[in-house]
Amino acid sequence: MTSKFISLSKDDINVGVKVLNELLANTYILSVKTQNFHWNVQDSRFYMLHDFFSDKYNELSEAVDEIAERIRMLGEHVPGAMAFYLKLGCLEEAEIIKDGDLMLRALTKDHNIIITALRTAIEQVSQMRIKGL
Ligand SMILES: [Fe+2]
Repeated sequence: MTSKFISLSKDDINVGVKVLNELLANTYILSVKTQNFHWNVQDSRFYMLHDFFSDKYNELSEAVDEIAERIRMLGEHVPGAMAFYLKLGCLEEAEIIKDGDLMLRALTKDHNIIITALRTAIEQVSQMRIKGL
């Protein structure tokens, strides 16, 4: 069966939704962690880091929305529960830390995990074939 809207098979849609759900989960966890750091940073560079983390979690929140809307475009329900994100995502919630350098290291580590996952996802979705074009 092929979706009449996007000319992808149901199998390909399932692959895409799985990839997007995992990306949604990790992006949401990272957004919450970044906002947590925005609130809790205690560092001589407070204002710079406070603003930096604010910019980043706002960007991540926009990304979450775009990912969720892409899942809806594939005709699937968007999971909206933290329990789901924590179960499906591969990132861990933030520890209680205050030091800016430790926060930056934690966020860098998480971004690298997402980059690695996205490289794998690109391999998976590149196998999809658009039908009827
Ligand atoms: Fe704020």
